[in-house]
Amino acid sequence: MSAASTQPPVTIQTSASTMSTTPAAPAAPAGPIFDKGLANTIAAETQMSFIDGGKGVLEYVGIEIDALARNSTYEETVYLLWNTKLPTQAELNALKSALQAEYEIPDAIYDMIKSFPKDAVPMHALRTLVSALALHDAEATSSETTPAGIESAKRQALRLVAKTPTLIANFDRHRSGKAFVRPNKSYDIATNFLWMLNGEKPTEAMSRGLDICLILHADHGLNASTFAGRVTIATLSDMYSAMTTAVGTLKGPLHGGANEEVMIMLDEIGSMDNVEPYIKGKLERKELIMGFGHRVYKAYDPRATYLKTFAKQIATDTGNIKLFEMSQKIEGIVLDAKAGKGIFPNVDFYSATTYHCLGIKTDLFTCMFAMSRMSGWAGHCIEQLQDNRLIRPQAKYNGPHEAPYVAMAQRS
Ligand code: CMC
Repeated sequence: MSAASTQPPVTIQTSASTMSTTPAAPAAPAGPIFDKGLANTIAAETQMSFIDGGKGVLEYVGIEIDALARNSTYEETVYLLWNTKLPTQAELNALKSALQAEYEIPDAIYDMIKSFPKDAVPMHALRTLVSALALHDAEATSSETTPAGIESAKRQALRLVAKTPTLIANFDRHRSGKAFVRPNKSYDIATNFLWMLNGEKPTEAMSRGLDICLILHADHGLNASTFAGRVTIATLSDMYSAMTTAVGTLKGPLHGGANEEVMIMLDEIGSMDNVEPYIKGKLERKELIMGFGHRVYKAYDPRATYLKTFAKQIATDTGNIKLFEMSQKIEGIVLDAKAGKGIFPNVDFYSATTYHCLGIKTDLFTCMFAMSRMSGWAGHCIEQLQDNRLIRPQAKYNGPHEAPYVAMAQRS
């Protein structure tokens, strides 16, 4: 049987960006569309974040990311994403209390952390621990799309957002040979994380710095890890499985792993004098400059706009201004259409300097991203359950047909 007789005709999708302010309802395609990388496919609906990649706009529930970074807190942003409205003071207090009540992790999880090799890759540790939390949550069964099932998914989401900082901070303490620090239920998420990580209460400026990073990374449309999470929950698997999938997907250097690569690059460059030869060498060898480029943004990533200002401030305050100045010089070269590639920095570029200035080790950067994005992933999974359909695209088969089965003895 030939391919032509078994497969419907495949349309090659070539049109430009699908991200417009008012996307028209897609016309029903005549047959499957081959859209490598799904760049031109709208695969889900969301009310959480809106991106206009051409104009460099990001809104959470209609509110510009810049306004949220300046005025909101991570907890308020989580409320906004999950309820599609800003909370009243009473609603915010209730969410904060509910999160604080779930900061602690089971003793068995602390024991598990103790068993991890001290040189474990932090994202491997986090992925494993997120998965292991399901063993201690009686609600982590198959998902249901009923109102009761959605409420259960929301409770699991809250536990995951609350416990993830405890997992990350205490894994770092274990590998550094330090005693565990239990969460402090009177602190907000950012303060509590830095408290556990460092064993002392952070300054307000440090807490606020991390809080801003958490706001900026909380949600971002149907990015790769969010999509992966939605694919998992759409099978009616549980929330922990979906979050485990998402953590694993975020880890890659083309996605959340880029922030670590940016810091490694800054360390390798080392001095202002070396910026130009290093970056030009990479461009000549056609190597990627990490922290630049984006599938959706073809303008300045609005998260990077805010982080650039913030990184300058925190780098000045912490005596790391050289890092910021090197970053700015790199941006100048890469953004230049002639000398560089004419491409803009993304969120990962200035978040590297910011996390470094907050005293966070380079190999924890992607975990920080996961800690924030957990709320966006979980929110998308709840949206998926509220209007679920199995996500199951097709593959374009390029292999042979009617091949003979060759016996082992005859194979070369
Ligand atoms: N350095 C050098 N060239 C680049 C870069 C870069 N960082 N990004 C894109 N390009 C070039 C690419 O080589 C291609 O050039 P040409 O047309 O000559 O072949 C052109 O720009 C278009 O790139 P693309 O590969 O079609 O873009 P994409 O949408 O498939 O990939 C990306 C997007 C983010 C994977 C890519 O820009 C990249 O690999 N960036 C570096 C990794 C990075 O910073 N990732 C974080 C993304 S933002 C946070 C997140 O979502 O996780």
